[in-house]
Amino acid sequence: MRKTINVGLVGYKFMGKAHSNAFQRIGMFFDPDADICMKAICGRDEAWVKSVAAKYGWQGYETDWEKLVQRDDIDVIDITAPSNVHKEIAIAAAQAGKHVFCEKPLALNLADAREITAAVKKYGVKNQIGFNYRFCPAVKLAKQMIENGKLGRIFHFRGLYLQDWIIDPEFPKVWRLDKKVAGSGSLGDLGAHVIDIARYLVGDIARVVGMSKTFITERPLVEKMTGLSGKAAENAPRGIVDVDDATMFLGEFENGALMTLEATRFAQGHKNAMSFEINGEKGSIKFEFERMNELIYFNADDEEGLQGYRTIQVSEGVHPYWSHWWPAGHVIGYEHTFVHELYEFIQCIANDKEATPDFVDGEKCSQVIEAVEKSIEERRWIEVNSL
Ligand SMILES: NC(=O)c1ccc[n+]([C@@H]2O[C@H](COP(=O)([O-])OP(=O)(O)OC[C@H]3O[C@@H](n4cnc5c(N)ncnc54)[C@H](O)[C@@H]3O)[C@@H](O)[C@H]2O)c1
Repeated sequence: MRKTINVGLVGYKFMGKAHSNAFQRIGMFFDPDADICMKAICGRDEAWVKSVAAKYGWQGYETDWEKLVQRDDIDVIDITAPSNVHKEIAIAAAQAGKHVFCEKPLALNLADAREITAAVKKYGVKNQIGFNYRFCPAVKLAKQMIENGKLGRIFHFRGLYLQDWIIDPEFPKVWRLDKKVAGSGSLGDLGAHVIDIARYLVGDIARVVGMSKTFITERPLVEKMTGLSGKAAENAPRGIVDVDDATMFLGEFENGALMTLEATRFAQGHKNAMSFEINGEKGSIKFEFERMNELIYFNADDEEGLQGYRTIQVSEGVHPYWSHWWPAGHVIGYEHTFVHELYEFIQCIANDKEATPDFVDGEKCSQVIEAVEKSIEERRWIEVNSL
């Protein structure tokens, strides 16, 4: 008999909306091997959660995640709340036998990430982490090209994640600037995505050395914690910013390739500029998220005199996920990455397969983050596996 997978979602703001939209779209554009039932969305502010539940497509709502996790009519818990609550919710969900999807970074730190991974292993539930940039068709194409040997031996990975939303010193101390809620700053928020892409495309990272800076060390406090935007009252008291505004690090992969990574919220003019370049012996590829339907490719085997970087428009039926969307060239966007990742998770549950990227990938990303932090503190190279 065809299965129905009942979902409960924690969080209703930025990621809560992105995931709700994705669950609504999956059945419309894909043919998953189970039906999806959007049972309940959870948030602490009853007026808010009630007002968005129906709009986002949920049958009902809860104001306490513990109640949501204990409900017998829920199979999957999807966590889109900040990092400080990931561990408690994920472990409780696994204990209750629910499959768990969790937004990145997996946890506040490596120790917590390890506890979460141990719990999903112990209770045998499917798990996936929200590294959605893996699910851009162009990134999937890059993966296929690397696996098919198009780049040959890889020498370099160069990753950037640049934003500019907190340059104003009067911008308040939102939760992303509070270590006890976010775990880390630009490194854990932005860098985590690029670390995951580096691991996905090139392999595990062996050693790192980094530097970081907090340019604005005190900011006005807001009464209610907000995410990416907010306004403090005039003459609001100030609080210490205890996370990094910008982090850069060098690394070496286990396969000998070299990497650089820069994550910053102080790159004036850049809004969500996640990009990477990979150079191999036979060719190079470049990707910029704000032009996510393109992959730039240099093929060293092209005819002499006609060589150069070419732009592949990754929006034809032959490209990953494309057959589910529009006619060739009718491009897709950010929200589609969530449709792809959650479709894959639903397929894994429906067909009893392990999901990817899973919490082990989340844990390995946290291990690299912590190695970078340790290298900054101790001003030396750190072996990632020593942690
Ligand atoms: N994959 C991506 O591209 C991406 C983008 C942004 C954020 N994120 C991640 O998603 C997570 C959430 O970020 P966001 O930008 O959506 O934050 P947000 O501030 O917009 O939303 C957070 C939500 O969590 C809810 N929440 C907080 N504590 C709660 C609790 N104890 N119980 C129930 N609900 C609670 C808040 O009420 C809010 O609805 C973070 O882990 C962040 O790193 C991922």
